[in-house]
Amino acid sequence: MAFEYLYLLCFILFEFLLSSTIAQTSRNVSLNSSLTAQNNVNSSWTSPSGEFAFGLKQIVKDGFLLAIWFDKIPEETIVWSANGKRLVPQGSKVELTSDGQFVLNDARGDQIWSANSSGTGVSYAAMLDTGNFVLANRNSTYLWESFDQPTDTILPTQTLNQNGILFARYTKTNYSTGRFMFTLQSDGSLSLYTTNFPQDSRRTKYWPTGNTTNGFQVILNQTGHIYLTSKNGTILYTIISPNSNVSNENFYQRATLDYDGVLRHYVYSKSSLGMWSASPNVVPSNICAAITDKIGGGACGFNSLCSVNNEGTSCTCPSGYSSIDTNDVLKGCKQDFVPQSCDAGEASSDSFEFKDLENINMPYLDYEHVPGVPKDWCMQSCLEDCFCVVAIVNNILDCYKKGLPFSTGIIDPNIIGTKALLKIRKDNSTLTDGSPNSKKNGSVNSKKKDDSTLIIVGSVLLSSLGILNFILPLITYVVVSRIYSRKAEVVQHYQVIRGVNLRYFTYEELKQATDGFKEELGRGASATVFKGILASDKEKFVAVKSLVAKVRESDLEFNAEVSSIGRTNHRNLVQLLGFCNEGQHRILVYEFMSNGSLASFLFGESRPNWYQRRQIALGTARGLLYLHEECSNQIIHCDIKPQNILLDDSFTAKISDFGLAKLLRLDETRTTTGIRGTKGYVAPEWFKNLPITPKVDVYSFGILLLEIICCRKKFDEEVEDEDQMILADWAYDCYKQKKLHLLLENNDESMEDIKKMEKYVMIAMWCIQEEPSLRPTMKNTIQMLEGTVEVSIPSNPSYSFTSSFL
Ligand SMILES: *[C@@H]1O[C@H](CO)[C@@H](O)[C@H](O)[C@H]1NC(C)=O
Ligand SMILES: *[C@@H]1O[C@H](CO)[C@@H](O)[C@H](O)[C@H]1NC(C)=O
Ligand SMILES: *[C@@H]1O[C@H](CO)[C@@H](O)[C@H](O)[C@H]1NC(C)=O
Ligand SMILES: *[C@@H]1O[C@H](CO)[C@@H](O)[C@H](O)[C@H]1NC(C)=O
Ligand SMILES: *[C@@H]1O[C@H](CO)[C@@H](O)[C@H](O)[C@H]1NC(C)=O
Ligand SMILES: *[C@@H]1O[C@H](CO)[C@@H](O)[C@H](O)[C@H]1NC(C)=O
Ligand SMILES: *[C@@H]1O[C@H](CO)[C@@H](O)[C@H](O)[C@H]1NC(C)=O
Ligand SMILES: *[C@@H]1O[C@H](CO)[C@@H](O)[C@H](O)[C@H]1NC(C)=O
Ligand SMILES: *[C@@H]1O[C@H](CO)[C@@H](O)[C@H](O)[C@H]1NC(C)=O
Ligand SMILES: *[C@@H]1O[C@H](CO)[C@@H](O)[C@H](O)[C@H]1NC(C)=O
Ligand SMILES: *[C@@H]1O[C@H](CO)[C@@H](O)[C@H](O)[C@H]1NC(C)=O
Ligand SMILES: *[C@@H]1O[C@H](CO)[C@@H](O)[C@H](O)[C@H]1NC(C)=O
Repeated sequence: MAFEYLYLLCFILFEFLLSSTIAQTSRNVSLNSSLTAQNNVNSSWTSPSGEFAFGLKQIVKDGFLLAIWFDKIPEETIVWSANGKRLVPQGSKVELTSDGQFVLNDARGDQIWSANSSGTGVSYAAMLDTGNFVLANRNSTYLWESFDQPTDTILPTQTLNQNGILFARYTKTNYSTGRFMFTLQSDGSLSLYTTNFPQDSRRTKYWPTGNTTNGFQVILNQTGHIYLTSKNGTILYTIISPNSNVSNENFYQRATLDYDGVLRHYVYSKSSLGMWSASPNVVPSNICAAITDKIGGGACGFNSLCSVNNEGTSCTCPSGYSSIDTNDVLKGCKQDFVPQSCDAGEASSDSFEFKDLENINMPYLDYEHVPGVPKDWCMQSCLEDCFCVVAIVNNILDCYKKGLPFSTGIIDPNIIGTKALLKIRKDNSTLTDGSPNSKKNGSVNSKKKDDSTLIIVGSVLLSSLGILNFILPLITYVVVSRIYSRKAEVVQHYQVIRGVNLRYFTYEELKQATDGFKEELGRGASATVFKGILASDKEKFVAVKSLVAKVRESDLEFNAEVSSIGRTNHRNLVQLLGFCNEGQHRILVYEFMSNGSLASFLFGESRPNWYQRRQIALGTARGLLYLHEECSNQIIHCDIKPQNILLDDSFTAKISDFGLAKLLRLDETRTTTGIRGTKGYVAPEWFKNLPITPKVDVYSFGILLLEIICCRKKFDEEVEDEDQMILADWAYDCYKQKKLHLLLENNDESMEDIKKMEKYVMIAMWCIQEEPSLRPTMKNTIQMLEGTVEVSIPSNPSYSFTSSFL
């Protein structure tokens, strides 16, 4: 976008070339006329002056747009279009039929678009010099006008009436409806809104800050003023006034809602080849600051930077990030470096550094705010926190932490004293494994390094405050030593492990069973899983999970925890068969799950059927209920996610890795980072110093349930629009708009069962409420899933899901 202020430069010079050539009459298009789309041929009907043309404009290879454009300007300037959402191929035809219908048919003759002139009495069509294309009857009464169906532009003499809408296009060269709308509503108020792309429905108003009332028409007059009038013609509100003298004789002009959400007035000198230049008076004056939607990433999408300059809106990516789609900068940016692992293994301070960005504000989506701390503290805290990617500091010693994705950073020289500290990886190359996609195969008990973490269980109070950081290790020490003394008793009984169907294996046995630990099923920071077959039962495979030596448990405690896991027994839990605790070797032996993990099942090539998915949701819920309420020691899983739900031969869901949290208590010095779990599934309590209760699993289950419903990952950069990237936001949006079918594209079965699916979405919304006490228990959840209890209308989960993602 290059807007230069040619306004002042070139308008008086060419006044003498004036209007003698502007014809007032129109060339009529008679019935039975048509235009056919043909590659490399511009077929059009032009206005008498030749300034405007109507026809099929080639936009991409074999893609044509039925449009009206400025025909004397080399720069392609389309002011109206009919089929931006669906371009037509070569051979398509726009036709004014002998009975007065005006239709666009594709090459096969299927109707793509038609003018709803209700057909009666059209006797000719005409491209007028105003840029209006009309269908008229014999008396020259207009039965249909393109001016009444504007797309993103209004021209002089064109008015936008009540209920009129301009939709921004999707990108500069993509004429599909985009993310913003300008509308004069039937109550007389005029506003710019973001839309629920691609649903076209309005969402958040971003201009004007006050209200307008009694509006009747928006007018762009001949001298370039855009204003709102009331019914009696008085000017209520000047929207844009040009900063120089403009006249229709000297200039082409237009007002366009651009794809970046800004309404601009453009002029182009008729007498010299130049370029469109925009008046610096634009609406809104600073789009970066105007878009305050909590959903979506802001004016430039997630993880981006936004600034407004003379050339328009500038969307860039901070260092370490790059554009998700270079053809669509509003889609935001993605991290280029391998994200910090939440596993204890990664020493953050060695691998990450900060890049300072001055004059910047990121007002939304912090997951933590600590007032009154120095910058160094804030940096250290962010460095040690695997969820933190940006820290914001200011003159009054606030520290804000943000996770991925973060909302657009507003760059503005007027923002003084607020600084963004961007945490980026120092050196990419030292990383050997751990790229998020390096291991995609879901398999038994597999753990991916990037997002698997083993967890502490219990009511650990997380703290971000320095004092608690100091106290916490102390508390931990006390707790741990008490556990030790208590567990010592259990161990007396261990040798027998009565009532627990656990086998003890020697290392040698397991080495044989796995053929020397040959076939690896998965690997994480804390464990590696191998496939094996036991000598005692040649029929059955087992999964042998070898825990890393770092495990700091004593023998006693290890054995005690294992037997506690071994005591659990439920159809929806992966059964622990036995273990080995020999020297350095701590190994668990589980039943083998032939159908891999729910992650590969849901996100794989073929989409599993809805019935199976419902059974899996229910099975997982039952397994969790057992862990929370029915087994002898309550177990909070803390890491419910599709990778940890495995499927047996008959696709029964089985939860794996429960109890491991306690078993694999990791390096206790890392209490500052506290959070355990997997990005995107962790409940807000983890960030807020609140006690950890079984409700954290309910939260994770809610996210999982949405993934099961939609067969989509919780966060997906590949989707069309940033509004859809975060599944939970998108789902609530669709639910609220009563457009749930949008969630289910290409998902016919669940479409048929849309009532049930709506109920499931509502249940998920309850599960992911920010306030833990609002979330149902697993028992309630099951009752709702089974239909024995009604589901009430959920409120907006409101937690900014975004703060915990990627
Ligand atoms: C177009 O058609 C109308 C109605 O038939 C007629 O009045 C008008 O003169 C025609 N204009 C031109 C330029 O032929
Ligand atoms: C339209 O074209 C068809 C065939 O090309 C012809 O039979 C018909 O008479 C034409 N009608 C008019 C109103 O010109
Ligand atoms: C069609 O129009 C475009 C721009 O308006 C121009 O660049 C192109 O040369 C034209 N093609 C033909 C075949 O006239
Ligand atoms: C054409 O469609 C628009 C929008 O759908 C509607 O407002 C208008 O009344 C229709 N006009 C006719 C003549 O049917
Ligand atoms: C055209 O105008 C005449 C006289 O004003 C009227 O009688 C006739 O019904 C009109 N025809 C149409 C098609 O509107
Ligand atoms: C325009 O963007 C939409 C939405 O991303 C996409 O579906 C469509 O294919 C694009 N059209 C063109 C011509 O690139
Ligand atoms: C603007 O209108 C909305 C809806 O009519 C109303 O809720 C709001 O309070 C109004 N704001 C002002 C500043 O008048
Ligand atoms: C356009 O509107 C402005 C502001 O209301 C007014 O000063 C100007 O005279 C108008 N121009 C025309 C040609 O009506
Ligand atoms: C026009 O309408 C506005 C409000 O709708 C009112 O304040 C004004 O007095 C009216 N002007 C005339 C000339 O009727
Ligand atoms: C616009 O034109 C008026 C009268 O023609 C003149 O007084 C004024 O200075 C001009 N404004 C600019 C910015 O050129
Ligand atoms: C870091 O490594 C990833 C994956 O190996 C690569 O795609 C990316 O471009 C690298 N980023 C930087 C900043 O070097
Ligand atoms: C996934 O498993 C299949 C079959 O077991 C194997 O061919 C493929 O190489 C594996 N892919 C990865 C990334 O490990």
